[in-house]
Amino acid sequence: MIQLHRKATRVVRIIRNLLIDLRYGGYLGVNLHPRDILRRADTKNRLLYAYNSDDEALQQVFRNRIKPNDVLVDVGCGRGRVLNWWLYSGYRNRMIGLELDAETAEQTRRRLKAYENVSIITGNAVDHLPPEGTIFYLYNPFDPPIIDMFLDRMKTICAKNPQVTILYYSCKFIDVFRADPDWDIEVETLVDSSNSPFPPLAIITLKPDANMA
Ligand SMILES: C[S@@+](CC[C@H](N)C(=O)[O-])C[C@H]1O[C@@H](n2cnc3c(N)ncnc32)[C@H](O)[C@@H]1O
Repeated sequence: MIQLHRKATRVVRIIRNLLIDLRYGGYLGVNLHPRDILRRADTKNRLLYAYNSDDEALQQVFRNRIKPNDVLVDVGCGRGRVLNWWLYSGYRNRMIGLELDAETAEQTRRRLKAYENVSIITGNAVDHLPPEGTIFYLYNPFDPPIIDMFLDRMKTICAKNPQVTILYYSCKFIDVFRADPDWDIEVETLVDSSNSPFPPLAIITLKPDANMA
């Protein structure tokens, strides 16, 4: 019975994701671009990087977190599921997607061109982190060497604006953050409506007394 409930929950989720995607120009499927998968140094976990975020997980990740003047950044936006979800959920904030893969970035930019509040930046996210961003969402875009660079650059952004929050979903490399005592890290367990676990979410902010030397 429990198994059946879990399966039914999963099917409902797939349908909801499909309907949201269709409203914004077409089903996104998975983020499975062979280039993205093959360039991963972390060969054991390559497939992990290929997924799009799920509607029910996103509801939990962003619940009570987005204020009207927040600038939302999806770090590694891929095909744009998270941008779709923000729009679908009625947010009118400025939204910025950063995507390494030029072809994927261009497709997402074209698909969402009617939304003036959405912009897509092509390139390595660590070189294009928008200083005006206030909520930075990551669903496992990077392996550790890039996470190190990301952390370094985020420190400067967070030091200038203490409101900045990093939401790291499926926080596989959270230990890289933990190694630096300047970050405040809270890890939340998320579960779906059949009580099955989603990957964990880390909520990360810079400590007020962080060492910026
Ligand atoms: C797991 S997908 C997540 C897609 C989307 N954020 C979501 O949650 O549905 C990770 C994405 O990060 C992108 N990515 C990987 N490394 C990146 C980098 N250095 N800069 C920008 N994007 C990157 C990949 O091309 C892929 O589209």
